[in-house]
Amino acid sequence: MAARLGISRAAVWKQIRSLRKRGYEIESSTKKGYRLAGNHDILDADLIRSGLKTQWLGKDLRCFSVVTSTNEVARTIALECRNDGINRAVNGTARIVKGTANNGPADAPANNGTVILAEVQTQGRGRLSRSWASPPGGVWMSLILRPQISLDRAYRINMAISVAICKALADLYGLAAGVKWPNDLLIEEKKICGILMEVSAEVDRLEYVVVGIGINANVDVSGYPAEWRSTSLHQELGREVSRVGLIQKILLEIENSYQHMDSKEIWEEWRNRSVTLGRQVRISSVSGDIVGEAADLAEDGALIIQSRDQVGLHRVLAGDCIHLRALEAA
Ligand code: BTN
Repeated sequence: MAARLGISRAAVWKQIRSLRKRGYEIESSTKKGYRLAGNHDILDADLIRSGLKTQWLGKDLRCFSVVTSTNEVARTIALECRNDGINRAVNGTARIVKGTANNGPADAPANNGTVILAEVQTQGRGRLSRSWASPPGGVWMSLILRPQISLDRAYRINMAISVAICKALADLYGLAAGVKWPNDLLIEEKKICGILMEVSAEVDRLEYVVVGIGINANVDVSGYPAEWRSTSLHQELGREVSRVGLIQKILLEIENSYQHMDSKEIWEEWRNRSVTLGRQVRISSVSGDIVGEAADLAEDGALIIQSRDQVGLHRVLAGDCIHLRALEAA
């Protein structure tokens, strides 16, 4: 290996040691040399970047072994986008539990497009203050975005991202994922992906957005509680998928649809992919519960409900949505 690469044996050993640190299993044999063994599906920033076809998204991509929550790490980086930002994020505030970032370039000034990935999250967060199970094998990823839009357009990011992930799953695996309002992705009523968007804004100006994406990729969901109604790519396809390829494809699709997030097409695609429209639903929000038919999805992301009490149409912008079964609804 040393001869072929024109480097010393010591230099080869140094590289092997660094790969092992990143999680690669490499066997060594005195006479034969080194052999890649075991699980190759590890999140390696260099590997992901090497096949990434985006223009700007994920050019700064950081992979960690264990963090509390990638959203928390992303938020810390977004807040500290000064020179010492990543050092503080790694050492303290964002509470990375184990491992260092196998990073790429130094901080871009504003972190627009920075991507954070982790093998495991110890305090993965879901919507509505729920926790999010984040064992090894999943794609637990957060994006830092700094869109030049007003706060009341932020829902467009959500639409663009849901559409992008559905496209990626269809193109890569032929899976038809649908959008359960507001932003769960389901395959035949089972959740494959959740999206958690956290926004920091001043009056009417978005400062930054952290979009957390959780995909049950090679996760064994058989032990999850039945009421979670979860599935995974592994369960749907009966095989493991390459998370590296999945992440590269998702980032490319997100970059494309994010650039057109204000277009009518994105709203139409989001609406067309809805598995909530036409269903009997129960929406729980701060202003109480509404039960009725999901009659439409407006361009501003609102769910329009024809309530059972016939009082008319309700517009809901946020809340917990439950799809009711026909019997239950009656
Ligand atoms: C939901 O459906 O409730 C949203 C789940 C979002 C989970 C992802 S995993 C990566 C990112 N980090 C988190 O702590 N949460 C999001």
